[in-house]
Formats: sequence, C-alpha cells, structure tokens
Amino acid sequence: MHANFSSAASQVQIQLAERSYPIVIGTQLLGSALTYQHLPQAASALVVSNTTVAPLFATQLMQALQSRYRKVLLLTLPDGEVHKDWPTLQLIFDALLQNGCDRKTVLFALGGGVVGDMTGFAAASYMRGVPFVQVPTTLLAQVDSSVGGKTAINHPLGKNMIGAFYQPLLVVCDLDVLATLPTRELSAGLAEVIKYGPIADMAFFDWIEANLDALLAKDATALAHAIERSCEIKAWVVGQDEREAGLRAILNFGHTFGHAIESGLGYGKWLHGEGVGCGMVMAAHLSQRLGLVDRPFVERLTVLVGRAGLPVTGPRLSSTDNAGRYLELMRIDKKSEAGEIRFVLIDGPGKATVRSVPDALVRQVIDDCCI
Ligand code: NAD
Ligand code: GLY
Repeated sequence: MHANFSSAASQVQIQLAERSYPIVIGTQLLGSALTYQHLPQAASALVVSNTTVAPLFATQLMQALQSRYRKVLLLTLPDGEVHKDWPTLQLIFDALLQNGCDRKTVLFALGGGVVGDMTGFAAASYMRGVPFVQVPTTLLAQVDSSVGGKTAINHPLGKNMIGAFYQPLLVVCDLDVLATLPTRELSAGLAEVIKYGPIADMAFFDWIEANLDALLAKDATALAHAIERSCEIKAWVVGQDEREAGLRAILNFGHTFGHAIESGLGYGKWLHGEGVGCGMVMAAHLSQRLGLVDRPFVERLTVLVGRAGLPVTGPRLSSTDNAGRYLELMRIDKKSEAGEIRFVLIDGPGKATVRSVPDALVRQVIDDCCI
C-alpha cells in the first residue's frame, strides 16, 4: 500500500505480510491530520512522550489526532535512558487503565528510542496488544529504533533484556523535528546511519563520507537521503528475518561492545549511539585481527566515526581487569549462546558475519582500543 501522506513525502515499506507498514519520510508530517488518515478508528489515543519532547511537539501531534479520536490523552514520562525501566513502563499502564482505555486505543510514541521502545513494549502487552504508531524525534530513532518492531526496557544486569517483537502500524519521520535536536544526539544518530555501510552497502558508506558535513549541518536533503537509505536497508533485513533467527543480528554491528560500555559505565553516561560508534571501531579491529578486513578499512571507519563527533576509543570499565569486565558484560548480550559471545564482524567491506571469537583475541582488541 502506498498511501498519500503529503506530496513531498517519500515512503519505505516494511514487508511483513499482515504486519506490513509504511515509514513515511518528509516535512510537515507530524502536525498534519492527513498523515494519520489510514489509521484504524478508535475512541481514544494516548500520546506517550517525555519532559523534553512533549513541550516541543505534543500539541501539534494532539491537534492532528483530534479529528480522528474523540479522546486524545498525553502522558509525559521522565527523560533519559536511566528511566527505561519497570517503574516508568508502569506509568503507561497506569495512564491507560485510569483513563478507561480499551483494546482499540492507539498508542503514539512521540520521542527518541527510549520513548519508542517503552511505548512499543506497553502496546505489545496492554490487554495483550493494542495498536501503536512511532513518531520518532531523534535521528537515531528515525533511522533505526522506530523501525522493525523491537521493543524493550533495560534490566540493571543488561540492556534491552526485557521486551517483545511488536510492529507499529506506521512510522512518521518528520525532518522538521530534528531542528531542535542537540548536536551530541545528532552524532549519536549518525552512528546508526554509518553502521549500514560496512554491513550492507559500501556505496552508501562512500555517500556518507562525502556528505557528512551536510548531515552535521542538518541539511534537509542530505538527512532525507540518509534516513531513506537507512530505512530501506533495515526494511530489507527485517523483511527477511523479523525475529532475528539469523540475518537481523548484523544490525547489531558495534552493539556488543557498545552495550557493554553503556551498562558498564551506567546507563545514560555514554549515549547509545556513542557506544555503537566506538563499538563499531572495536568490532572492526576484531575483524582485522581475524583477517576479514584490512587496516585501511579499519582506519577509514575510525576516521568517519571520529568526524561524526563520536568516540573512537573505549572507556576503562575496571581499574583491575578492564578486558575481563568487558567480557563479563558482553556475555549478557542477547546474541550470546551458552555463555559464548557472538560478535558482528565485517567480512570484507559491505558484508557482515556473526561469529564467536577466542577470548584472548578479544582481550587484545580491548587492550588496544581502550584508554
Ligand atoms: P533518547 O530517546 O534518549 O533521546 C535522546 C535525547 O534527545 C533525549 O533527551 C530526548 O528527550 C531528546 N530528544 C528527542 N527528540 C528531540 C528533539 N527533536 N529535540 C530535542 N531533544 C530531543 O535516545 P535515542 O538515541 O533516540 O534512542 C536510544 C535508545 O534507542 C536506546 O535505549 C536504545 O537501546 C534504543 N534503540 C532501540 C532500537 C530498536 O531496534 N528498538 C535500535 C537502536 C536503539
Ligand atoms: N537495532 C537492531 C535491530 O533492530 O535489530
């Protein structure tokens, strides 16, 4: 289905049989009733946002939804990765129940990946599943987290450990919302954009190298292309392997090291995208040690990650056994099997592979990459 959202918008389709849905990318989408015209009828809608994003965009979105839903409610959560937890998730269920929301109520996630992942998980479990829409407001969420149906909260022992696969009905990527996004968050989003090059499309990697300054300057044309191509690659992967039986794991390039950094430092200290940026550099070093890529490739990736404003050296997570602490944290990764860590590695530029690697080799890379 290629519905009409706005003349200027482009669309990427996630093909998952009866769970298929469009990602619509463009300007002036969030506040337009036209954007939501194909959503199912319901008595109520709940917009879930946070203390930073709600004051910026909730009124616009709620006005656009008013023609479609009799009751449009807003729930404003505390902001931050540190709140991606059970007590905050509970606030969503509280709001739904206190307002008599039924199983047709549509949830709208208005925010970055934290709001999106939590709202999606709430939608997956409230009354065993209610419809939801992603309205991502960070670059990271527009190119990755709002797409593909992974929803979760964190556990103190591991990132995104409690969650569900649950697809939205629609993803609305409005470029206008990125105007207020802080530079550090833009850079974090660029990590997930860069990721798609080494794992799937080196022509896109070349394009990012050539257009990075425009992306950093929030040039609308460059951002639109980066979002569209990222979503196309993610759609191609998710369409083949929705529940990560195999292929989908390549989207976690850089995430095994990155998640260890995020949880090892304490959630929120490094942004998710910063962990991924540095994690990609570490995973590229590991790929090189295994003879899968050459040194110039690792250097090229490191330069691009650094130019994007992301860290390229890992933090120390322990003053006594730093590599041991990384290994301990990485074993909690969802890709681990029987306690064995499985890494996404680059098997020649543009192609990824998922493998376990001897601890000794991983230790060497951690020692080389951490300051
Ligand atoms: P985030 O949701 O914490 O947003 C970053 C910050 O930017 C927050 O303070 C937020 O309030 C603020 N913000 C959001 N939009 C803004 C705007 N337009 N203007 C100004 N400020 C704005 O972080 P994120 O980087 O969007 O997402 C990271 C999360 O996504 C992590 O929890 C990660 O695990 C998850 N993630 C999930 C998937 C998935 O497939 N589900 C993929 C990648 C990442
Ligand atoms: N962000 C990884 C995935 O969606 O699988």
